[in-house]
Amino acid sequence: MIINENAERKILPIASGKGGVGKSVLVANLGIALASFGQRTVLIDMDLGGSNLHTYLGIKNRARGIGNFISDKSVSFADIRARSPYPNLDFIPGDVLVTGAANLSYAQKRSLIANIEKLDADYILIDLGSGTHFNTIDFFLMSNSGVLVTTPQAPSILNAYGFLKNAVFRLLQQTFSDHKGVTRLLTDIVKERQPNSTPTIASILNGIEKLSKRAAATARSEIAKLRPSIVVSMGDRPEDMEIVQSLRALIEQNLNVTPLCLGFLYYDYIVREAVGETVPLALVGRDSLILKEIDRMAQKIVHSERFPEMPLDLDEYEDSFELAAIEAEQDYRSINPHPHTRMDQSPDDASAEEFIRLISAQKAEIRELQQTIRALTMQQQSGPRYG
Ligand SMILES: Nc1ncnc2c1ncn2[C@@H]1O[C@H](COP(=O)(O)OP(=O)(O)O)[C@@H](O)[C@H]1O
Ligand SMILES: [Mg+2]
Repeated sequence: MIINENAERKILPIASGKGGVGKSVLVANLGIALASFGQRTVLIDMDLGGSNLHTYLGIKNRARGIGNFISDKSVSFADIRARSPYPNLDFIPGDVLVTGAANLSYAQKRSLIANIEKLDADYILIDLGSGTHFNTIDFFLMSNSGVLVTTPQAPSILNAYGFLKNAVFRLLQQTFSDHKGVTRLLTDIVKERQPNSTPTIASILNGIEKLSKRAAATARSEIAKLRPSIVVSMGDRPEDMEIVQSLRALIEQNLNVTPLCLGFLYYDYIVREAVGETVPLALVGRDSLILKEIDRMAQKIVHSERFPEMPLDLDEYEDSFELAAIEAEQDYRSINPHPHTRMDQSPDDASAEEFIRLISAQKAEIRELQQTIRALTMQQQSGPRYG
């Protein structure tokens, strides 16, 4: 795992539990923003089988990409790094012909990870396909500052939570791949799981503690290194931050992970227009709100002295979620100078209701997660953990 604080090249894998949440739109335009600040940036389309990052960059997909690299030994990783039309921005295409990250072999995955870690750049943004396949999670865990994109809708929020939960479990599997006792414990947890219950990370840590105090300390310190960021996409109103705060609470309480919030993007028709014309956002809406929002994220990343711990302005806004909420409120006012008073429901009722929905939907989610984790453990490949 690359700890991005003080790292020369900062790796940001960008994931989502659900597809269609605006991940690739974010990767393309955040990349363009970082590059425009003079940061040498490389974008990697790792959504194998569903590659479309090039369209958001306004590039035709003629160049060789990840698919060629893994299927043709004569193609080196340097061969697939292509210049983009934007200064400081390079692009590594994916491949629509490769049938997804799920089918990468262990050796192919290791080779990709090793090559990505060696790329010469300031920032490396990886557009991961959706879903919780363990190969996708392994790319997410390349860095301690992965970004999770979610819309404010409950299914997307739950999938983001599920993704992170799988990631923490996978991190424990990687960390203890050479530790027979802990590996057996993790395998048993998956096997013995009851349909409607799932052990919290805290209870897994207790189990590890019973085996070995040292192993438990290692597990805690590995989990504590994770500083994932959440990006809210296709937001509708400032109150959407309430369900995001619920997600944060779930993550903190159940996963022992302290997430950050990188920012809030409103649903913006300019995106559709840009997609229709196959050009980046900057070409259709120079003054659009979404560009301002993405620019702000890029600034938070670049100017943060203790990246990934954001935001910069720690004295004023120590809490990145609170800052995102304030920004969402200000942005809302900038597009709706006189917002209507909502008469139907008070925001508090709405959020309580939403939270209850979240918790009950969680049960179905857990069942799905169990299957993924079961598959993950059955296919688990042992090997040295990433340093
Ligand atoms: N902030 C936004 N406002 C409006 N539409 C958006 C926004 N972000 C993404 N979209 C639209 O949603 C669709 C899916 O976005 P995409 O980035 O491809 O999702 P993902 O990569 O998560 O599957 C695209 O057609 C895009 O036009
Ligand atoms: Mg995508």
